[in-house]
Amino acid sequence: MNPHHIRDILIEEGQIKDRIESLVQEMTPELKDRDLVMIGILRGSFMFIADLVRELFRNHVHPRLDFLTLESYYGGTASSGTVNVAKDFSTRVDGCHVLVIDDILDSGRTLAKAHDHIMGKKADTVRTCVLLDKPSRRAVPFEANYRGFEIPDEFVVGYGLDYDGYYRELPYIAKVSMLDGCPDQE
Ligand code: IMP
Ligand code: MG
Repeated sequence: MNPHHIRDILIEEGQIKDRIESLVQEMTPELKDRDLVMIGILRGSFMFIADLVRELFRNHVHPRLDFLTLESYYGGTASSGTVNVAKDFSTRVDGCHVLVIDDILDSGRTLAKAHDHIMGKKADTVRTCVLLDKPSRRAVPFEANYRGFEIPDEFVVGYGLDYDGYYRELPYIAKVSMLDGCPDQE
């Protein structure tokens, strides 16, 4: 890990906290009194989903939780273009309202795959929620039902997002630059 990779903070910890509160206000009417299963996409969603469920609890929303590991990035920042289920979730979702949580919506392939995979298990409805959205990078048509922040086409880390496995623990979102230039994207 090289601390020189972190350039500057794009979204502060306090901004994330405030946005989670307003997102939860936005989603609570739809989620309340439903048989709700929240499915986090690993590994990037772990911090976002942990903060979301605690805020949902304060709003009297009590979901079941599970996690789905999808892989399209094999280290570095370039997407392989295909998304595979590396580890499936085990909670039964037939007839349930499912809310999928991910860190970032980029090409759209990961959430499109998650959506189809979960619908295939006979969920009643599948909604999606992402902390970050890079709309300029979309390769397949997919929009999230809830999103925290729209960001420009820059590679970011922190709050669950990694560069080659590092920086997930940062409590904020930061831009990275490599000593030999910016990380390549697809
Ligand atoms: P998509 O399938 O292209 O939408 O990519 C979604 C996944 O790509 C996310 O779950 C992240 O793991 C990864 N990703 C996309 N953009 C970034 C970024 O700027 N930083 C770190 N990971 C990213
Ligand atoms: Mg990810």
